[in-house]
Amino acid sequence: MTINFKTDESYREPFNFYNSAASIRRFPFPFKSDEFNYTTNLEPHVPGDGIFENLLDIDEHYIGEMQERRAMLRDNPDQHFVSLPQSIPSQWEFLELIMESYSQDFPEYFSLKRDGPRWTWINRILGIEDTFTFGDVRSLREEPLKYIGMQAQGDWILLEERDGNLFWSAGLATSRAGYSLKFNIGMNFTEFHGPVPLAHESGVFDRAMKFLIRLKPGHPFRRTNWNLTVHPRHDISVEATPRWANDWSHVTRENVGEIVHLRIEVQPLFRLPRTNAIAFPVRTYFATLQEIATNRDWARRLHRVVKTCPQDIVDYKGFTRFQHLVVDYLAVFDDSN
Ligand code: HEM
Repeated sequence: MTINFKTDESYREPFNFYNSAASIRRFPFPFKSDEFNYTTNLEPHVPGDGIFENLLDIDEHYIGEMQERRAMLRDNPDQHFVSLPQSIPSQWEFLELIMESYSQDFPEYFSLKRDGPRWTWINRILGIEDTFTFGDVRSLREEPLKYIGMQAQGDWILLEERDGNLFWSAGLATSRAGYSLKFNIGMNFTEFHGPVPLAHESGVFDRAMKFLIRLKPGHPFRRTNWNLTVHPRHDISVEATPRWANDWSHVTRENVGEIVHLRIEVQPLFRLPRTNAIAFPVRTYFATLQEIATNRDWARRLHRVVKTCPQDIVDYKGFTRFQHLVVDYLAVFDDSN
C-alpha cells in the first residue's frame, strides 16, 4: 500500500491542512442515524473498508502529525507525556503491539527484526533505525510509550486493571480535546469521565466499564467520538486554552465551510495479554465542512445531527457559539428544509 505523504502541513497558525480526494473518501463519517445521543457505541475492531483496512491506520497526514507532536513535546514535555512507574511493563507490550502491527501492515515503511531480546526497528518514513534490548529502558533511551508514540499517529493511553476498575497509568497525547493528562493520571474510569454530561445518569459508563473488564486479548473493540472544532488544531487541551479559546470568534457566514472541521476520534480498545492492561488509542481525523459536503448524504445527516443535538452535549463539546452558522451552512444540502 503506497501512501502519498504530505510534507508541508501545519496544524498551527498559519494552518496548512487539507484532505486529498482519496482521504475524504476514507473519512470515518460516524453517524448511523439523524439524531445523536451518548451510547456506548462499541463494535468489534475487525478489518473493514477505508481506515479500517489495517489494525492501526496511518495516512497521508503521518509526517505532519509527527512533526506537530515533536514540536509540542519540545515546548511542553510534561503536558503531553505522563507515566506512573508501574506502567513500564505495559508500555513494552504496547510498543510490541505497534511495531508488530505497523511492520505487518506497512512493510514498505516499517520493519522489525528480532534476535532474542535484541530487536531492530526501522521506520523508513522518518529515517529511524534503532537496535535495543526488549525490556531494558536504558537501551531505548526513552520510556517505550514515548519512543514508539513519537512514531505512531494518534494519542495513546494505557490503563491498568485493579479491584474491578481501570486506572489511567500512562499517556502520550498531543490531540487532546479538553482534558488534561496530568490531571487524569491515576484516576479511575468513572472519575476521568466525570465532566461528561447525561451519560452517567443513563448508565452508559457503568455498561462500558462492565464491558471493558471482560475485554479479551486478541479481540479488540472500537468506538468513535465526534466534535466540531475551528481550524485543524490538534491541541485543544485545558492547558492550551489561551491558544484556542478565541478560535470560535474567527467563524463567519463566509468562512464556516473552510474553517470548521468535523473532528472524529476513532478509539480502538486492546487488552494486552501479559500485563492485562488496556491500550486505548485515540486517532483523530479532520475534515472541513466543505470536504464533508462533497458527499451529499453526509452533509444532510450532519445537518440534522448538529441541529437537533441536545443542548448539554453541544455546550460540553464547545460549539454552542457557532452551531447556528454550521446549521445554516449545511441546510442547503438537506432537502427537507
Ligand atoms: C478505556 C479507555 C477510555 C479512556 C482513557 C477515555 C477517556 C476519556 C476522556 C479523557 C474524556 C474527556 C472527559 C473530559 O471532558 O474531561 C472522554 C470522553 C468521553 N468518553 Fe471516554 N474514555 C475511554 C473509554 C470510553 C468508553 C468505552 C466509552 C463508552 C461509553 C467512553 C465514552 C465517552 C464519552 C461519551 C465521552 C464524551 C465525549 C464527547 O462528547 O466529546 N469512553 N473519555
